[in-house]
Amino acid sequence: MSAVTASAPGKIILFGEHAVVYGQPAIAVPVTQVQARCTVVATPTAPTGRVEIDAPDIGVKSSLDELSPTHPLALPIHLVREQLGIRAIPACRLRITSTIPIASGLGSGAAVSVAMARAISTFLGHPLTTEQISSIAFRVDQTYHGIPSGIDNTVITYNQPIFFTRGEPFERLTLRHPFWIVIGNSGIASPTVTVVEEVRRRYQASPSSIEPTLLAIGKIARQARVLLESNDPGQLGALLTENHQRLQELGVSCPELDHLVNAALQNGALGAKLSGGGRGGNMIALVTKERANQVAEALRRTGAVSTLLTQIG
Ligand code: PMV
Repeated sequence: MSAVTASAPGKIILFGEHAVVYGQPAIAVPVTQVQARCTVVATPTAPTGRVEIDAPDIGVKSSLDELSPTHPLALPIHLVREQLGIRAIPACRLRITSTIPIASGLGSGAAVSVAMARAISTFLGHPLTTEQISSIAFRVDQTYHGIPSGIDNTVITYNQPIFFTRGEPFERLTLRHPFWIVIGNSGIASPTVTVVEEVRRRYQASPSSIEPTLLAIGKIARQARVLLESNDPGQLGALLTENHQRLQELGVSCPELDHLVNAALQNGALGAKLSGGGRGGNMIALVTKERANQVAEALRRTGAVSTLLTQIG
C-alpha cells in the first residue's frame, strides 16, 4: 500500500478567547503557512499490528503499545480505531511533523490530532467525515485541556474562518476583503489548560467580578463579525485592541505580550491583541500590507522570537 499523507493548518483566534469557554461567541481563522502533517506507510515485514510512531520535532520514536493510551500521539489512533470498530491496525509507521509552534496558541495539538485521524482513517480505507475528525480532535483536547470550548478543533478541521459559540453549530464566515495579520511569538510556552483553569477558579470564586468582562468580549466578537462581513479594517483594529484590554482585565496577559502589543501599535498596526490562552504564546496585529514589515521588525526588536505574516480571507 502506498503512503498516505494528511495535513492540517494552524489557527489564530481573532476575537473571544476565554469568554468562549463561558458561552460567548468567538472568531477564529486558519493559518495555512504552518501545518501539521502525518504520513502513514505500511510495514508489511513488521510483526502483525506493530504501529511505529516517529515524531522527530518532539523527540518521540516509539511503538504504539509503548505509549500510554492517552498520550497525545496515541489517543487519536485509538479513537479512529474505536470509531471504525477496528480491533487492530495493520503494521505501519506514522511520521508526524509540524511547523506549528507548540504551546503558543496556534493550535498545534489539535492540528496534529486532525492530521493523524485523517491519515490513519484514509490508510485504513475508511476516511472519516470532517465532523468525525473534528470530534476526535475535540476528545484529545478534552484529555489535555479539561474544558475546551471546541473552537480549535473546529476551525482547524474545517479550515475556514468561523464564528463559534460553544454548544451551537458553528457558522462559516465569508470575509468580504482579505486583510493582513502579523503574528508575533513571545517565545514563552504557556499551556492553555493552566490559564483556562485559573480563570475558572476566579470565576467560581466570584462570578460577578468576571461576568461583565466576558460579556464585553462577547459583544466585541459580535461587532467584529459585522465588520468582517462588511469591510472596515480601521474599526476592526480598534476592536482587537479593546479585546486585548479586556483580556488584561481577565488577567490572562503578561508584560511580554503587553510590550509586543504596544510595540505593534506604536509602529502603525491598526490594532493588536494576545491570541489564544495568553500568559505567553502569540499575539496578533492587524496591519496594512505596507506596514507589515515595520510592525514585524518592531515585534522582533521587542522580544518576539519569530513573526509570521499571514493574509486572512
Ligand atoms: O488553544 P489556544 O491557546 O489557542 O486557546 C484556546 C482558547 C481558549 O478560549 C483560551 C480555550 C478554549 O478552549 O476555547
